[in-house]
Amino acid sequence: MQIIDGKKVSAQVKEEVKNQTLELKEKHGVTPGLAVVIVGNDSASRVYVNNKKKACEAVGFKSEEYALPEQTTQEELLSLVKTLNEKPDINGILVQLPLPKHLDDKAVIEAINPEKDVDAFHAVNVGKIMLGEYDFLPCTPAGVMEMLHSYDIPVSGKNCVVIGRSNIVGKPMAMLLLHENGTVTICHSRTKNLAEVCSQADILVAAVGKPKFVTVDMVKEGAVVIDVGMDRDENGKLCGDVDFENVKDKCSFITPVPGGVGPMTIATLMKNTLKAAKLQNNISD
Ligand code: GUN
Repeated sequence: MQIIDGKKVSAQVKEEVKNQTLELKEKHGVTPGLAVVIVGNDSASRVYVNNKKKACEAVGFKSEEYALPEQTTQEELLSLVKTLNEKPDINGILVQLPLPKHLDDKAVIEAINPEKDVDAFHAVNVGKIMLGEYDFLPCTPAGVMEMLHSYDIPVSGKNCVVIGRSNIVGKPMAMLLLHENGTVTICHSRTKNLAEVCSQADILVAAVGKPKFVTVDMVKEGAVVIDVGMDRDENGKLCGDVDFENVKDKCSFITPVPGGVGPMTIATLMKNTLKAAKLQNNISD
């Protein structure tokens, strides 16, 4: 069994982004800029946003944080998005989800200029991903693919099972595996014989949001297990969607939590923001 080290792979990606950013500054006088919008007081979101800002600093981007109070109205949030759409030194706009319940996240995402949508959540970008002709890839699924590539794990012809069908992870994850010729099954809360379906997977991606949901009986001997979960166990300790301790010895590769997929999400965000800056300034690679 080999642990897939997300910290290591993400450090390599960020190093590459940092070098390209330096070149972009020197050759073209362009510094990529990311605006991160957070509404309310969700503590997990606060940690994610801080990590995103830190990563921007590390690769040499400009970052702006817009921390809005819980009671922000839809109009106020849309007005901020509009301002950021028009700000030339901001190349990427990220509105941290989930938003407080009274806000309409779909409308907010659709208000972001697709060229600045570095999460790839806008309908235009989602459509482009379906067609296989995209500018940006969604951060978490693309981070997972980058990990597989980094460890030379082949996807073509493999049985890939994704547990979870969210717009942020499950659905685009399935699409990216399909693009690389995986045979993909998406499982969800209504799936019958879930354990049996999962136990056929050569590559199993867990994105359910339930602590230690994937148990050892659901995993095929020698499978690659990717854990997208960020959960808390019964003692409040950070854990993933996979029962890591009991599953790990059955796998060929497994991602830990923390230190697995999480850092890769941020590394892809950096890649997307760099690409956005290049596209908006008509600079090709
Ligand atoms: N909330 C959880 N994951 C994400 C993400 O990748 N982007 C944004 N904007 N919000 C999230």
